[in-house]
Amino acid sequence: MYNTILTSLENGIFTITINRPDKMNALNKDVINEVGAAMEEVYTNPDIKSAIITGSGEKAFVAGADISEFTSLRKEGGSALAQRGADLVFNKIENCPKPVVAAVNGFSLGGGCELAMACHFRVASENAKFGQPEVNLGLIPGYGGTQRLTQLIGKGKCMELMMTADMIGAEEAKALGLVNHVFPIADLLPKTKEILNKIQTKAPLAITHIINLVNQAAKCDPKGFDNEIDAFGDCFDSEDKVEGTAAFLEKRKPAFKGK
Ligand code: COA
Repeated sequence: MYNTILTSLENGIFTITINRPDKMNALNKDVINEVGAAMEEVYTNPDIKSAIITGSGEKAFVAGADISEFTSLRKEGGSALAQRGADLVFNKIENCPKPVVAAVNGFSLGGGCELAMACHFRVASENAKFGQPEVNLGLIPGYGGTQRLTQLIGKGKCMELMMTADMIGAEEAKALGLVNHVFPIADLLPKTKEILNKIQTKAPLAITHIINLVNQAAKCDPKGFDNEIDAFGDCFDSEDKVEGTAAFLEKRKPAFKGK
C-alpha cells in the first residue's frame, strides 16, 4: 500500500517505519505524503490505540529532509514545503488524540530530529545521534525545530546546538530532556511497546485531554489552566471515570472503553 514506509498493527500499537535506508530514511515528498496518510489511519482506525514512529535499519531514524529536493526551491517553494510538512505530518502527530512515540534508532538530524520532537515523547537506542545541522546548508529548521527544541531543552542549549550544528549522543539527549529513555538497539522496539502497552491500559479520553493540555502548556497558552479545569469536569461525565473509580473501590483492574 505504501512505497516509502512500512506499517504494522499489533495489540493496538501501529508502527510506522520510514523505509529509505539507502538514503538514511530522508524525508522526501513521498515520505511526507505517506506518513501523513498513515497518521490519518491513526486518527480514524478505532483498532489503533497508539503509534510508534521509527526508521528502517540500525543506522538512521531520519537524517533530515531530502536535501536533493531543495536545489530548485526559492522563497515561496521553501515556505510551501515547510507548511505542507506541518499540515500533513508534524502538527498532525503533535495534535494526535492517541499517543505517538518516536523510537529513535540512529541519526535523527534536521527534519528527523523535528519528526521525533513532534511525537509526544521520545525513546532512543544507544547509537542514536541528534542534531539540527541546517546552518551547514545555509538554512534553518523548517518543520518546527526552533520552537519544539526550545520547549524541550531550553533556550541556551537550543541556541548552541542550532548555531554549531553539533550532534549529540543519546545519553546527552536524555540528560537534556530530549529523550526519556535510552535502550540497547535490540531492545528499542520491545521496550517502546512495553511503555505503550502500559499506557493502553489507562483511560483513553483522559489521555487525549493530557495530550491537548500538555501541548497547550508547551506553547505557553494562557488558557491552559482554565482549559484544564474544564477538561477535568468533562472527565467526570465519562463512563471511564465511573469504571475507574468503581474498580479502585472494588480492588480490581479497570476496563476502560474510551467513553
Ligand atoms: N537528504 C538526502 N540524502 C541524504 C540525506 C538527506 N538529508 N542524508 C543522507 N543522504 C544520503 C546520502 O546522500 C547518501 O546517498 P548516496 O549513497 O546516493 O550518495 C546516503 O544517504 C548515505 O549517506 P552518507 O552521507 O554516505 O552516510 P554517512 O554514514 O557517511 O553519513 C550522515 C551519515 C547522516 C552523517 C550524513 O548522511 C549527513 O550528514 N546527512 C545530512 C544531514 C543533514 O544535513 N540533515 C539536515 C537536512 S535539512
